[in-house]
Amino acid sequence: MKIAVAGKGGVGKTLISGTLARLLAREGFRVLAVDADPSMNLAFPLGIPSETASKITPIAENKDLIEERTGVKPGSAFGLFINLNPTVDDIAQKYGLRGPDGVRLLIMGTVRSGGAGCMCAANSLIRALIRHITLTEGDVIIMDMEAGLEHLGRATVKGFNALLCVVEPGAQSIETANRIRMLAEDINVREVLIVANKVMGEEDARFIEESVKRMNLELIGVIPFDPNIIRADAARVAPLDYAPSSPSIKAIEKLKDALKLRYAEREV
Ligand SMILES: Nc1ncnc2c1ncn2[C@@H]1O[C@H](COP(=O)(O)OP(=O)(O)OP(=O)(O)O)[C@@H](O)[C@H]1O
Ligand SMILES: [Mg+2]
Repeated sequence: MKIAVAGKGGVGKTLISGTLARLLAREGFRVLAVDADPSMNLAFPLGIPSETASKITPIAENKDLIEERTGVKPGSAFGLFINLNPTVDDIAQKYGLRGPDGVRLLIMGTVRSGGAGCMCAANSLIRALIRHITLTEGDVIIMDMEAGLEHLGRATVKGFNALLCVVEPGAQSIETANRIRMLAEDINVREVLIVANKVMGEEDARFIEESVKRMNLELIGVIPFDPNIIRADAARVAPLDYAPSSPSIKAIEKLKDALKLRYAEREV
């Protein structure tokens, strides 16, 4: 099961990715959670203290590792002899961080071009890494992506089973979903599934259903707006630990079951 989670900024990608990862791990899956968003928040819903996560050097900033594997120092002027197929099979083990329920977190960090020098070495390593871990590093890979599907996104989600596109009631996130869907088609992602989040009442639910139908996509989960999530955030405790039986967590459990039915059991 290789799932990427995308959507407009602030819709709930990180909450859903992290919580799903732990719920799947509790069922015995080996789960690798990949933080591919430069703002690097995935440790929070995973229940990994930010002090612990911030001690980890993100892959994109690990200059020695990048140079060792690609042969090119990041930021150097000449990327001509870059190794496009760096060895990556030990990276998740070596640089991943193990959190509650046994989920392993891999933090990619920011790859930004601009300024002096070329970031292609970092890019090359991260692309290779994501491509490779999708094949070998566990039963489930959940990747929390940058809002939209910018920069790394297009190339990296190639080969994933599904792109979960999170939307909230409101036209903007639906527009983003449409754009993401088109990008996904371009790169042959097999399925784009919609997850609605922050849904308040019947009217919101209807809005989402109609929008999803118009997009000709499938709605695989509906998560209510839930004040517990905000309280968990204020208390700096992962929502899954703060309010394990709250409506939003229950809904993410249902989403987990739906995904399991669809991918895990089918492929065994
Ligand atoms: N179901 C919900 N009910 C209430 N608040 C929610 C819910 N889901 C997410 N939130 C809140 O919305 C905010 C954004 O959530 P989250 O960080 O998961 O979104 P994101 O899509 O990853 O955002 P970004 O694009 O910034 O990475 C957080 O403050 C979170 O606590
Ligand atoms: Mg996020």
